[in-house]
Amino acid sequence: MRSGNETPTITCRFLDESYFEVLLRKFQEAFSDYAHPPKLDLERFRSHLVLNAVDLDRSVGCFEGGEMIGFSLNGFGQWNGRSTVYDAGTGVIPTRRRRGASQAMFDLQIPRFRADGIEQYLLEVITSNDPAVSLYKKLGFRTQRELFFMEAGGPLVPESQTNVTVDIRVLSAADLVGLSKLWCAGPSWQNSNEAVARSGSSRRILGAFLDGQCVGYVAYTTGMGRIAQFAVDTDHRRKGIGSRLLAEMESELTPGEKMQVINVDDRLPETVRFFEKRGFRIALTQYEMILSLHDGAI
Ligand SMILES: CC(C)(COP(=O)(O)OP(=O)(O)OC[C@H]1O[C@@H](n2cnc3c(N)ncnc32)[C@H](O)[C@@H]1OP(=O)(O)O)[C@@H](O)C(=O)NCCC(=O)NCCS
Repeated sequence: MRSGNETPTITCRFLDESYFEVLLRKFQEAFSDYAHPPKLDLERFRSHLVLNAVDLDRSVGCFEGGEMIGFSLNGFGQWNGRSTVYDAGTGVIPTRRRRGASQAMFDLQIPRFRADGIEQYLLEVITSNDPAVSLYKKLGFRTQRELFFMEAGGPLVPESQTNVTVDIRVLSAADLVGLSKLWCAGPSWQNSNEAVARSGSSRRILGAFLDGQCVGYVAYTTGMGRIAQFAVDTDHRRKGIGSRLLAEMESELTPGEKMQVINVDDRLPETVRFFEKRGFRIALTQYEMILSLHDGAI
């Protein structure tokens, strides 16, 4: 039985856990010329895989002469009620690009996922990353929405009316289910309720309570100050509650780290303005793209 997709020079095959350390090295090499090269070590790479529900048995490596020259990491779960595979990083080392390696990896994995009954392929890609955007368009991915990555320049710009009347309480990942009623747009894959639950002790969720009712909350990575979810009830906006939640976060930020908010939906201008007023700036924009596996191009 054919176990991989082969061309005269490159071979693609599904991986397993034994490739973990090779993948870290190749990930660093492939993203070394990236707009925002990821700062990774073994622990952070493991966290990336866990956060995104990556299954190495269903992730692909591309090999040439025994050397891994590319990889496609895949996470699995439900997304908007559909069985979904999430591209948690596709890369080819710089010296082996434009030779069909990525195309070959997708040619291997898309038919397998379709046969497994997975309904859609989801990913995010930086809008200025022309090679990757071209690759994904060629594969048939369509843009769903744009997402902003925002970063604080330094300490928060103070808010004159930070709300001191709300009680701040620590919540659990299980509490997030009931808080989705506060959302104006759904979070991206890596910020979903399932992802927050997977990230375990490195995540913290703070709720703002008024008369025993949760009127706002923030879910973030402790120390690094990376916000995954943030919402204030529409009836309780412009009362300093969002600013209070940010101030609570900032008080436990590791010195030298900058607060970040990952993947703000561009259809939420009020949210973007809120963060800009506190001193955040849009650092980059991503497309969220989906390929339906019911009627895909391959
Ligand atoms: C994006 C990337 C993975 C493409 O890998 P690759 O093996 O070079 O791509 P392929 O040779 O399989 O190209 C397949 C198609 O993608 C598109 N493409 C790839 N590189 C391109 C480039 N530099 N410019 C324009 N289109 C490009 C083309 O449509 C190409 O088909 P064609 O050659 O018939 O025109 C690679 O450039 C890379 O590793 N970049 C850094 C990591 C990254 O940005 N990953 C994506 C975000 S997770």
